[in-house]
Amino acid sequence: MSNTVLVTGGAGYIGSHACVELLQAGYSVVVVDNLENSKIESLNRVQQITGKTLTFFQADIRDKAALATIFTKENISSVMHFAGLKAVGESCEQPLKYYHNNVYGTMVLLDAMTEANVKQLVFSSSATVYGTNPQVQYTEDLPIGAVNPYGRTKAMVEQILIDMSDSDKLKPTQTPWKIALLRYFNPIGAHESGLIGEDPNGIPNNLMPYVTQVAIGKLQQLSVFGDDYPTPDGTGVRDYIHVVDLAKGHVKAIEALQSEKFGEGGCKAYNLGAGLGYSVLELIQAFEKMTGRKVNYKIAPRRAGDLPEYYADPGLALKELNWNVEKTLDDMVADTWNWQVKNPQGYN
Ligand code: NAD
Ligand code: WQD
Repeated sequence: MSNTVLVTGGAGYIGSHACVELLQAGYSVVVVDNLENSKIESLNRVQQITGKTLTFFQADIRDKAALATIFTKENISSVMHFAGLKAVGESCEQPLKYYHNNVYGTMVLLDAMTEANVKQLVFSSSATVYGTNPQVQYTEDLPIGAVNPYGRTKAMVEQILIDMSDSDKLKPTQTPWKIALLRYFNPIGAHESGLIGEDPNGIPNNLMPYVTQVAIGKLQQLSVFGDDYPTPDGTGVRDYIHVVDLAKGHVKAIEALQSEKFGEGGCKAYNLGAGLGYSVLELIQAFEKMTGRKVNYKIAPRRAGDLPEYYADPGLALKELNWNVEKTLDDMVADTWNWQVKNPQGYN
């Protein structure tokens, strides 16, 4: 059987780290990316880290003909689907752009997969699908309730994938869908080589790249969004996960899809998080201690739409995917800094 994985969005932050882990685990890798939010240099670096080659197609996943060509040319056995847009604020301003890319794009991909009879899929979902819940440690069975258009695209795609899988039960099929919905918590960090990492366009929205750019002097001051939350130090608490641990979780998911566990097909969600919550101030402190740099910050009003605190219950991923995080917050900080110092202008 072929062991070739098509990685959509493989030139991006998480996708590039997944390519490294796939190549190192012995898979062949084909990447499709339109480079809307990434640089091809990331894939050169993936090859440099692994000493292996991958195949790259520059195309949009909404381009049916391009996808058909890829599935015809390459002997693909499964798909990791990272391609998508991810900026929450932009999704509120331009919802259609997000539904078109994330939802319609996935539908085109599913058509191409069906056509090629490739039925194994690992989907990049997000903890953001949970919305507001009374408990702060999230289990996969909590109700879905995304609160912004970006989150709703993830929730909608999850539902589409569940429906695709359910439809197998109603018709005879040789090849049932085998789908893992991976709900990431807050991915940060970079590959320990310092060759690949997060390279955001413009001013970052997320905490870690913002902290890094303040520490290196690119940005003046971090705003800590709220210090009056009902959390130990009043700042927001999140479950930060090292991107390499996250990438390894994807390889574990592919292995599970190809094993007995998914023998009869199915679609299942898994939290990928550490199961620990750190506050904004704790992350800043860890950063200052590790780098010896001061992070200039001020307390600012709460950011609209932010929840006070949540983190993963990663128990199901441990039980069924045999996956757990290996890296600590200090590793996440050290690797982020290493990447930043070695690549002050990102991939440019
Ligand atoms: P990223 O922007 O670095 O990577 C996404 C990649 O997809 C980019 O290389 C981009 O050029 C490509 N792309 C976008 N639309 C495309 C299209 N229509 N056709 C082809 N390529 C396209 O983002 P990331 O942080 O690596 O996130 C990867 C996935 O994980 C996304 O689906 C995102 O929503 C999801 N996710 C990310 C986070 C996070 O905090 N980074 C958290 C949860 C889920
Ligand atoms: C973390 C904490 C902020 C910036 C987002 C998306 C989510 C997922 C991951 C894709 C919060 C605080 C932040 C700043 C701050 N992405 N903060 N100052 O909001 O948990 O999740 O990324 O699926 O969908 O919403 O991550 O890094 O933006 O914020 O004080 O300048 O840092 O309030 O408590 P978030 P984040």
